[in-house]
Amino acid sequence: MNKYVVASAPGKLMLLGEHAVVYGHPSLVTAVDLRISARAERLDQDQIIVESSLLDRPHDYPLAIALDADLKEVPKGISFVLATIQVLFAEFSLSAGLKITTAGPKISYGLGSSSAVTVATTKAIDALFDLNLTKKQIFQYSYQAVLDVQGAASGFDVAAAAYGGTLYYAGNGETIRPLQLDTLPVVIGYSGSKVGTVSLVAQVAELREQFPEFVAQAFDMIRDLVGRAEVAINNGDWALLGQLLNLNQGLLDSLGVNSQQLAQLIYASREVGVFGAKLSGAGGGDCMFAVVSDSHTQAVIEAIEAAGGQHVDLPLQAEGARIDDVG
Ligand code: MEV
Repeated sequence: MNKYVVASAPGKLMLLGEHAVVYGHPSLVTAVDLRISARAERLDQDQIIVESSLLDRPHDYPLAIALDADLKEVPKGISFVLATIQVLFAEFSLSAGLKITTAGPKISYGLGSSSAVTVATTKAIDALFDLNLTKKQIFQYSYQAVLDVQGAASGFDVAAAAYGGTLYYAGNGETIRPLQLDTLPVVIGYSGSKVGTVSLVAQVAELREQFPEFVAQAFDMIRDLVGRAEVAINNGDWALLGQLLNLNQGLLDSLGVNSQQLAQLIYASREVGVFGAKLSGAGGGDCMFAVVSDSHTQAVIEAIEAAGGQHVDLPLQAEGARIDDVG
């Protein structure tokens, strides 16, 4: 029986399909090597302790209270961890003292995510209590925990954290299909500001209420672009992928989720010669990316930086949730 387990999970870069994916449409996502770790350790007393670099002190609850806690009442830094404990302890009738310590990079560019914390916690508890969960179960329990904390979310980032690599993701997890590819010739630029995904999802929901037919058609076109992009990626047809990104960007603009900073980086990169460029994620800030040939990569990085962005140099197609240490 292990006394402690350290697990980690990667962040994510949404390639195509954001916002539409919240309504069950497909998306393409690649895992980013920006890992968040969770250390799970058994305790002798019936307590749950959560320690995180996001918190100024560890939070300490009697077991029964932790399992019953209202997730809206606890600090954000621990809500995803507590939600995961609640889901897994209920599902597997666990009852044991447990300490979870999470750690991750201080700056995440909007690419790291609460989903990675959740998946790392699930993976660590899985190994500590010998639950033998499959990847799909790690995804399902983690997605449940994320929904318990934040309501509407597509779960694409939970899938990226659980499976790693590059995925086609649809139907809120009904289809999770790993793509087989060697490289993804992508340059990422950070716009310098963070945004709240929940408020942008709500903004698109409002637009959808006001213009139901327009938004339905935009989502249908995004679905079509995602299907074509999967084929383009499988064929290594980067020129076609770039055109599809540009089309997806136009539709995101029409949904009102672009920002001036993002637009500057997107246009700056397009002007020095990329196959295509778009924002990634909810929009309003965070990151954009461009699909670029080797010969143009350096020029695109310089153009993004000259336009006030920051080049984010992180490996893509990162490994999914894994065990890093046991003792
Ligand atoms: C945010 O990274 C992507 C959205 O599609 C929200 C989600 O999928 O949960 C806007």
